[in-house]
Amino acid sequence: MGILRILGIESSCDETAASVVEDGVNILSSVVSSQVNVHHPYGGVVPELASRKHIEMIVPVVSESLFTAGIDGAQVDAVAVAQGPGLVGALLVGFCFAKAYAFASDIPWIGVDHLKGHINSVFLESPSPEFPFIALLASGGHTAIYHVTSHLHAECMGRTRDDAAGEAFDKVAKMLGLGYPGGMVISQLAEKGEPRAIKFPRPFLDKKEFDFSFSGLKSAVNRYIQTHSETYQDQIADIAAAFQASVVDVLVYKALRAAMEKKCRHVALVGGVAANQRLRDQMRESAKREGIKVFTPSIELCGDNAAMIAAAGYYYLKDPGRLADGFDADVYSRAKK
Ligand code: KG4
Ligand code: ZN
Repeated sequence: MGILRILGIESSCDETAASVVEDGVNILSSVVSSQVNVHHPYGGVVPELASRKHIEMIVPVVSESLFTAGIDGAQVDAVAVAQGPGLVGALLVGFCFAKAYAFASDIPWIGVDHLKGHINSVFLESPSPEFPFIALLASGGHTAIYHVTSHLHAECMGRTRDDAAGEAFDKVAKMLGLGYPGGMVISQLAEKGEPRAIKFPRPFLDKKEFDFSFSGLKSAVNRYIQTHSETYQDQIADIAAAFQASVVDVLVYKALRAAMEKKCRHVALVGGVAANQRLRDQMRESAKREGIKVFTPSIELCGDNAAMIAAAGYYYLKDPGRLADGFDADVYSRAKK
């Protein structure tokens, strides 16, 4: 078989995205339309508004991705679409569009697990990790450590018991009056702050398992703000830096311990929080001391995008055990165990 050209579609949360990828690696286009401005006034994603915006954007975003790739609709060999986890109403927009597109073009289509999409984002650039490796997935909706044995198989070694890492960034940003989403603002502010100025807890650091918990840390920041209500405004950069240092310390420590336990020499850092520069730097430096190599996608492939969905879709379609999906397939909201 020649080149397999896949149209990827992603609409699980607040980004409408489409991408054309050849053979799971060669990105011809990757268009991401963010809804940040829609949700910003509410301090978080409003599901109903997200669905409506996806409906408005799905056709223009797919058209742009085909145009940028320099192909017309008839040159797409298969469609891959995020099936879950995510907001059901939001997912349904991309999912129904993908089914309709595949039906009209008479080509196969496949539903892709969003989290497998993030894990496979690391194969869109070279060098890429060798199996088996450890993946730390940290985003706004999920934070988990996986032992990845193939493109399609990942055993979850631990996950957050409450807030995701990105969610903690977003909530702390909201407490500090910095708006939504919070990851980028906090990390920029943190550059001007002193991480050791305030000592926030390192949740679950001493626990043997690989689970995370970030809601206690969030409450600790809240308590600090309450007890320093007169002065905290002058310390915002230090609060941001100290909070970020806590999150990063825990993520780095657990990911590397997982790698040592499974005797993996490669670690992948994926998801929206993987865009955090301190996390990238600290992970690389600490890993180097243990002889472990770290792989991180470029910033634009860390956050939600459709290239990662097309990449994962390629491996699903190549898998002899998995056939293209039928039209009765449905989306799902929660992560599969
Ligand atoms: O992967 P993603 O785009 O969406 C989900 O699947 O959730 O991740 C979005 C999350 C948000 O919580 C955002 O605040 C966080 O990633 N984020 C960051 C940074 N950039 C985005 N967190 C920390 N530092 C950053 N530089
Ligand atoms: Zn995501």
